[in-house]
Amino acid sequence: MSHDTRRRPAAQQEAFQSFLAAWPEYAATSPLDQLRERDYSRLDALGEVYLDYTGAGLYGASQVQEHLRLLESHVFGNPHSRNPASAQMSEWVERGRRDVLEHFQASPEEYVVVFTPNATGALKLIGEAYPFAPGGVYLLTFDNHNSVNGIREFARARGASIRYIPLSIPDLLADTEQLQAALGEKPAGIDCLFAYPAQSNFSGAQHDLSWVGRAQAAGWDVLLDAAAFVPTNRLDLSRVKPEFVTLSFYKMFGYPTGIGCLIAKRAVLGKLHRPWFAGGTITVASVQGDRYYLAEGPEAFEDGTVDFLNIPGVEIGLRRLREAGLDRIHQRVRCLAEWLIGELEGLHHSNGRPLVRIYGPGARGPRGGTVTLNFYDAGGEVIDHLKIEELAAREHISIRTGCFCNPGGGEAALGLRAEALSACFHRAEEERRSRFTLEDLRMCIDAKSTGAVRVSFGIASNFADAWRFVEFARSLRDCCSGSLR
Ligand SMILES: Cc1ncc(COP(=O)(O)O)c(C=O)c1O
Repeated sequence: MSHDTRRRPAAQQEAFQSFLAAWPEYAATSPLDQLRERDYSRLDALGEVYLDYTGAGLYGASQVQEHLRLLESHVFGNPHSRNPASAQMSEWVERGRRDVLEHFQASPEEYVVVFTPNATGALKLIGEAYPFAPGGVYLLTFDNHNSVNGIREFARARGASIRYIPLSIPDLLADTEQLQAALGEKPAGIDCLFAYPAQSNFSGAQHDLSWVGRAQAAGWDVLLDAAAFVPTNRLDLSRVKPEFVTLSFYKMFGYPTGIGCLIAKRAVLGKLHRPWFAGGTITVASVQGDRYYLAEGPEAFEDGTVDFLNIPGVEIGLRRLREAGLDRIHQRVRCLAEWLIGELEGLHHSNGRPLVRIYGPGARGPRGGTVTLNFYDAGGEVIDHLKIEELAAREHISIRTGCFCNPGGGEAALGLRAEALSACFHRAEEERRSRFTLEDLRMCIDAKSTGAVRVSFGIASNFADAWRFVEFARSLRDCCSGSLR
């Protein structure tokens, strides 16, 4: 398991030279190496290999310092009042909205930005306010995050039906024929919502953004979950125009946590019906008159006080992304992911059996910088992903394992069938269990086949990170099958 650390630099150097020969475009991303030295030096100082950017982006030190300087040099109060401390803060909140729109090239005439605690908060706003009704449909692809899946409970409660589009195997892209057919079957005269992720947080598969226009042409409203896409890809809302876009800022630039947003078309705000009112969302509410009037625009959707002190951190983070160059980041993570896939696919046990199985589109397929896989021992048995996480942690490598809150992606990748899953849930019901844990499901299906290992690249990733993971993987060849189970 242990590496010969003295060999590491030379072997790494050699691997880097062949990588550059095969991916010459990587060289143009070298300003990101300087950025890493300047702003992310803690990674190398601490010897940490961070490969969980789809879990959370990393913040640059200068981002936090700039935010601190801003807080130290201003007196900020709760926005939406006329006192100077409040008025200043209100201006920063509005600047934040403008900046987000600009970043995504969204016209302020067409879109508004609602600040939320995270992408999940934005998704819940849509779920509770969308006019689902009997006869309507909530259509979604299999590989959504649970916070998109969860909207189905709002749809169901209001009598709409729920329809899932399966993924094709092995690329884990949505089945285009079935999707096209489902879009064509939109019930007339009723609001219907189609939701999908621009990039799967399970497999890194990038779904075709042209579905947005195609679904709209067939009469659907479209919810594009962009949380896993926007940290390393450009989303241009002047070209692709979903009704709703959801994201979390910490995934884009690491800091601040606690803020996400819903970018919504102004034209659809009117059809959203909030189930309640709260501080900040109304112009007038009366106790004795038993009336309330919602505010116009984004404020109507921001319950209570927004995380106002952190909102300037969004502007700072977006600026840092711009300076680093989103296209450059995109290029870098693409090269690293392609190289990683090739290297991992080339690893075999000495009996010739492959060491890993990678899920989702191939190296040159429609994918982002997220690579999801499972390890297999020399006997062809899958190695428990939790064990892999534990072994990687010993090497100071941060990866994520499990199903990443994306059960549909996992079920498709791992070949878990509806019947087997239903049988587990049925048994739990028969046993009158009020709680059913992931561990219970693992035990019911097969403890080792309910998850995977996810490696994801981002703004501060470099070749050494990818190389360290490949070396870690290599160390599992022919290794200790018995003790790994
Ligand atoms: C594609 C996708 N959507 C939504 C979410 C939910 O984000 P949050 O937990 O920040 O609300 C995530 C988080 O991993 C995600 O990857």
